[in-house]
Amino acid sequence: MSFPKNFLWGVSTSATQIEGAYDEDGKCLSIWDCVPKGKVKNNEDAKVACDHYHLYKKDVALLKELGVKVYRFSIAMSRIMPLNEEVNEKGLEFYSKLVDELLANGITPMVTLYHWDLPFWLEENGGWRSKSIVKYFEIYTRAVVEKLSDRVQYWLSFNEPACFLFNGYVQGEHAPFIKNPLLISKISRNFFYANAAVIRTIRKYAKTKPEVGLSFNCSAMVPLSESKEDIEKARKVTFESKGGILANTWFLDPVLKKNTVKVYGIYKVTQKTCDECYEPLDFIALNNYSPFADYTSKEKKEYERSNMLGWENNGKGLYWLVRFIYERYKLPIFISENGLPLDDKLVDKKVHDEERIRYLKDYLSNLERACDENIPVFGYSYWSFMDNFEWAEGYKPRFGLIYVNFENQERIFKDSAYFYKEVIATNGKNIKE
Ligand code: NOJ
Repeated sequence: MSFPKNFLWGVSTSATQIEGAYDEDGKCLSIWDCVPKGKVKNNEDAKVACDHYHLYKKDVALLKELGVKVYRFSIAMSRIMPLNEEVNEKGLEFYSKLVDELLANGITPMVTLYHWDLPFWLEENGGWRSKSIVKYFEIYTRAVVEKLSDRVQYWLSFNEPACFLFNGYVQGEHAPFIKNPLLISKISRNFFYANAAVIRTIRKYAKTKPEVGLSFNCSAMVPLSESKEDIEKARKVTFESKGGILANTWFLDPVLKKNTVKVYGIYKVTQKTCDECYEPLDFIALNNYSPFADYTSKEKKEYERSNMLGWENNGKGLYWLVRFIYERYKLPIFISENGLPLDDKLVDKKVHDEERIRYLKDYLSNLERACDENIPVFGYSYWSFMDNFEWAEGYKPRFGLIYVNFENQERIFKDSAYFYKEVIATNGKNIKE
């Protein structure tokens, strides 16, 4: 009963959420640097965030202290593509130094090429509503891959397409704050073409054999019991209900199975798009926090255990997700995000976050069950390495293992960081204690 040998234990972050230095060294503004007043809680912004751009060496030292095997971070496209087809060498240099620092400390880098921070000029060009975005992603990917692929092997083309497309253009809750459900098919189609272009570009220019994945945010319904009927019912809801299609199948099926998807009679991904954009992945990356919650349903559910953002905490959701995804798509799985937001308080230079430790024990025991059943999960990366800018929610929800004092940029290991360090050191032996 245990996690496989060489399991990739890690932590995750993204550029906008931690870097700061929003206008340094040739970086252009991104859509998250141009947020209209009132869209982010307390009108907070990511101009400084964790100041990781300047403190990256100290942060890598903390990663080493934590003992992580892999560090998942993203590249800010706005550092690399300041305008049109220009490439900013200084932006590339920053990530090159970061990769060197990680490798010098024995940590494997995993690079997400796009984690939501579109350059503002590209948004003005039509953003995800315009097919011209594909060409810019090709130029961008080539520049990054040429610079880093002698040292980077793991690549994630995109982070959570359902989130940045639907929250950004359909529900209007994330940048660029557009609310128009009629855009669903169009922005998704442009995404499928951009994703295919990114993956093809990685494979074309990589100097070492790349392992390519995409981080999907998905969730599974937990069966009422483990009877065959209940399991089948849960699988059906997960992939075939209207909410399940929008949350899961809409992006997974075209990318992984070349299958068309339709929902509500008007939204569809056509076979032509699927055929032209099919580019097999080496692995599936999953971001999971909660079991499936049908947001298309009118009934609002109150959960027995929910976090400060109202999401249900239930590690069984992770087990069933991994199992359903593997049974349907048959690819190795990497958990690229999972974590708990808390309103952590610093008391005498300590943070006692027992709730996060309980959360980790619950989710990791369920993940271990999947490994025991021979589902090929090869790593788990906690969200997040440190407290950071939680998009429209600002800085209040703290997801980190490491507490960040945003007044003076001090970093402090929370109790959960010591716990996770032990998880890594024992390959998960302590999660049952
Ligand atoms: C999803 C996103 O990838 C990440 O940016 C975000 O902070 C976490 N999950 C928590 O909401």
